[in-house]
Order: sequence, then structure tokens, then C-alpha cells
Amino acid sequence: MSATAASTAAKVPAGAEPGFTRHAAAEQPLEPLLEVENLRTLFPVRAGVFLRKIGDVHAVDGVSFTLARGRTLGLVGESGCGKTTVGRTILNLVPPTSGSVRFEGRNLSELSRREWRDVRRDMQIVFQDPMESLNARHTVGQILEEPFVIHKIGTTAERRERVARLLEHVGLQPSAAQRFPHEFSGGQRQRIGIARAIALEPKLIICDEAVSALDVSIRAQIVNLLLELQREMDLALLFIAHDLSVVKHVSDDVAVMYLGVIMEQAPSEEIYERPAHPYTRALISAIPIPDPRRKRQRIVLQGDVPSPIHPPPGCRFHTRCPFATDICKTVVPVWESVSPGHNVACHHWRKVVESGDVVGGP
Ligand SMILES: Nc1ncnc2c1ncn2[C@@H]1O[C@H](COP(=O)(O)OP(=O)(O)OP(=O)(O)O)[C@@H](O)[C@H]1O
Ligand SMILES: [Mg+2]
Repeated sequence: MSATAASTAAKVPAGAEPGFTRHAAAEQPLEPLLEVENLRTLFPVRAGVFLRKIGDVHAVDGVSFTLARGRTLGLVGESGCGKTTVGRTILNLVPPTSGSVRFEGRNLSELSRREWRDVRRDMQIVFQDPMESLNARHTVGQILEEPFVIHKIGTTAERRERVARLLEHVGLQPSAAQRFPHEFSGGQRQRIGIARAIALEPKLIICDEAVSALDVSIRAQIVNLLLELQREMDLALLFIAHDLSVVKHVSDDVAVMYLGVIMEQAPSEEIYERPAHPYTRALISAIPIPDPRRKRQRIVLQGDVPSPIHPPPGCRFHTRCPFATDICKTVVPVWESVSPGHNVACHHWRKVVESGDVVGGP
């Protein structure tokens, strides 16, 4: 399956939630920065005394998308659907089983160690819990200096100066360099995580649930910081989250994942206003609407998410899909175009769209 993220012009979302300031990008030719093609990452499952392999977890099972320079692709889906594994595989923290990742046109699996080290500077990650990713025994100054030390950039004095500028850049005092991560609040720690991610002026940041653990008001501040940095630095963001309402305000395009595959992808507003996959509709229907006078029919999915060790044949969603028919049980749906930039993998998407009655964003 293939999808083209950020292939449409950026728009300021209508009725954007107060507190979020997504800026409209100037129209310009969209150069692909990251191209993921048919990526599969399986984890072996072992059992018995001899730890024989008895199967595979199909964590990522044929994911394709393109992300243009300076744009944001939101990646959403229920827990365990493979979002983090997509991010980790792109960064080669987990080896792909098959498929390819191209960055600025270069196939990452063909790079030498040295070339990979250079590319890795351009691709950074911000995690959900900065406490886990920031070394608790190091001062913030040491943590932020580390990328410069690893890449042998600047003298000690120059590095200290860059750390001070980085801290200011993310809205912290330069004196924060002397303190330890545990002395900061969650939002401040996430600013430190972001400072570390932007230290080497990357071209892509993978934000893996980077704001999910934060209070709503702090979340808005961190999202705005990311968007400001994106504008300034022409950063591409792969924004992984459960929270669809945040993703909507951050992303140019949104991809919806289920059990290791992308089910639907579209420009952000389009996917909320005209979801064509029953799974996307169910996710959207679960977002609370802030206006008590408006109501939305909640679609409650039946059953549990099937095991990724034995994903269902045909359409993976058929076991929980209210639209499923016999064909869904045996035939994998192809990736079809609903409208420019909007694609879906569903046998019955036309019926889904015609049935109307979901939704509209919050
Ligand atoms: N190192 C690993 N070894 C074995 N299985 C793994 C490993 N990492 C992830 N998995 C499995 O792969 C599947 C996808 O996990 P992943 O963490 O990518 O999902 P996710 O969408 O990021 O979930 P969450 O929203 O909870 O963060 C899950 O079934 C998970 O248990
Ligand atoms: Mg995850």
C-alpha cells in the first residue's frame, strides 16, 4: 500500500482549538524528505526450553508513506498497533524485516556506518517520558552537550555557549544547565528533550507521544514550541499520538494505523470531516466535543484488538467492523483514492462515506 503524506498544501485548521497556533506554510514545491516503502518489522516469538521460534509479532506489516520537508504527518491508532515500531525502525533502532526507508533519496539500509552517523544527526526523536530518555545522573548541561561531544563539534566553551542558546530557544533559563532533570516539571523536562533533539539542527523529528503525558495547558505550550521550531528550522515532524484532537491541530496529514498497517491517510481536515474507513470513524467518534449543545454518536467497537501474532486474514479490521461482509474475511483491501491526497484500504469505503452521519471535528 502506498500513501503520500503532506502532498497537499498546508491549511490552518478551521475552528482550531484555542491555544494551538498552527501556521500556514507558504505554498512551495514539496520535496520528499522521508520515503517509507512497504516497511515490515516482525519480532520473533520464542517458547520452550530451547527458545524455538514459534511465530512473529507483526508489529509493522507493510507501511508506506512519504513525508515532505517542513511538514507534519500525524500517526494515530490504538495502543500496540505499531506506531512506535515505525518510528524506531525509521531510525534503525530496530532493524526492518523488509521494505525500505529513504531519507533525502538515500536508502538507509545501504549506508556505511559513517554515512549513517551523518544521517542520524538529521533524524531525531522525542519520547513520551523525558525522565526515561534523559540521563538522571547528568546535569541538563551535560545532557545537551553530549550530541556536540559525540559529533566533535566546538570547543568546551563553544559547546557551553550553544547549550545556553539551546535552553533559551526552548523557553528555559541558561542557568537550567546546572540542574538535574528531576528538578524540572514534566513540561520543562519535555522542553529539555526537545532542546536535545534540535541541538544538531535536524531535518526530521519523530515525536513519539511527546505530549501525551502532559496536562492540557502544558501540552498546548509544548505543541506550540514544536510548531514554532518547525517553522524556523523547516523541520519535518512525524507526530505519533493516541490523542486525535492534538494530532488534528498539529498535522498536515494524518495516517491511521491498525494492527501494523495504515488503514487510511488524508489531509488533516479531510480525515476528520470525511473519514472513509470505519476504524477512523470509530476513533473520531470517541473524541469528546467541547460544546455541550453538540452531540456525536459514539461508535463503540465490538471485541478486542486481535493478536498481532495472528492478524486476521483479509482486512485486519473485519473482526470488529460494522460494515464487514464475506469479502473482508478473505481479500486484503487495496489502497484506493477517495480524493486527491486521501487514500483508504477498505472494500466498503463508498458505503461508509455515503452513510454519512458521523462526525465533524471537535
Ligand atoms: N522489542 C519487541 N519485541 C517483541 N514485541 C515487540 C517489541 N516492541 C514492540 N513489540 C510488539 O509490537 C507491537 C507494536 O508495538 P508498538 O510499541 O510499536 O505499538 P504502539 O502503537 O507504539 O503502542 P502504544 O500506543 O502503546 O505506544 C505490540 O504488539 C508490541 O507488543
Ligand atoms: Mg508507542
